[in-house]
Amino acid sequence: MAESAERLHDKIAEHYPQFDGKSQLTGIDFSRPTVARVYDYLLGGHDNFAADRSAADALNAKYNGGATEVCVSNRRALQRAVRYLATEAGIRQFIDIGSGLPTQENVHEIAHQVDPTARVVYVDKDPIVLAHGRALLADNQTTSVAQADAADPDSILDAPETRQLIDFDKPWAVLMASVLHHLADHEDPVGVTRRLIARMPSGSYLFTVNLLREDHPQADARLEADVVSRVGSGFIRTWDQIRRYYEGLEMVEPGLVYANDWRPADPDKSEGPWSTVLVAGLGKTP
Ligand SMILES: C[S@@+](CC[C@H](N)C(=O)[O-])C[C@H]1O[C@@H](n2cnc3c(N)ncnc32)[C@H](O)[C@@H]1O
Repeated sequence: MAESAERLHDKIAEHYPQFDGKSQLTGIDFSRPTVARVYDYLLGGHDNFAADRSAADALNAKYNGGATEVCVSNRRALQRAVRYLATEAGIRQFIDIGSGLPTQENVHEIAHQVDPTARVVYVDKDPIVLAHGRALLADNQTTSVAQADAADPDSILDAPETRQLIDFDKPWAVLMASVLHHLADHEDPVGVTRRLIARMPSGSYLFTVNLLREDHPQADARLEADVVSRVGSGFIRTWDQIRRYYEGLEMVEPGLVYANDWRPADPDKSEGPWSTVLVAGLGKTP
């Protein structure tokens, strides 16, 4: 059966009977992959369509499973960062920019294990993320979801969903896991983090995960062109370019490192062949 807004609505409503968001789903193009749905498929989710699966499968076939490996590493690093922020750094407010579709162990679930009153705002530009998020969080007073563009951070901080939940006078954390590499150079990703940092009070945090250009022999312009042609964006950058996202921040140990090396839960874990294409770091405002 053809994919349509009608079918997607029924699929979401199957899981969340309270969902009534047909209007949010009109205008979605099912024939072109989106980053959120490709990522969902690579993590083993079910909120994706034929075009998404075909883009992901093509990348995995060409790069020997690299797409899945990178997505899993990214997600695990994000989860470790949230756990660290909630337990060791005492953070109770999170803005997750480019949050993706709900999956297992979402940011609010990890934060709520530590403190059920912790606040989480999910932000994504993909309308399906908004639809799922709103359905999932319909009864949740501490978590919300906003549709906004990471390239315009002021619109994120000024969104009603953010202003309602986040107390900007108390420390908050921004999570940008595998989203800055979906901004093109002309969208000024360094300017984006600079504008976010400028509005953070002392003791706030920025966590990012990014694709790295320099260390893996296949992490080159060809790989970038393949990713961009399959999913629309995915710009791999150098250590120096990524370091600039943290200007003015103090880096939390171990600094900017391969994502698998960022506070690994199991120090004996085996490294996959693509572990040198993804870097993660957490910075703190002085
Ligand atoms: C690879 S997924 C990562 C999801 C999540 N951060 C995680 O680490 O599990 C990237 C997400 O960023 C979103 N995204 C890409 N460009 C964006 C933009 N300009 N503004 C907001 N979201 C964006 C995509 O829709 C997608 O959901």
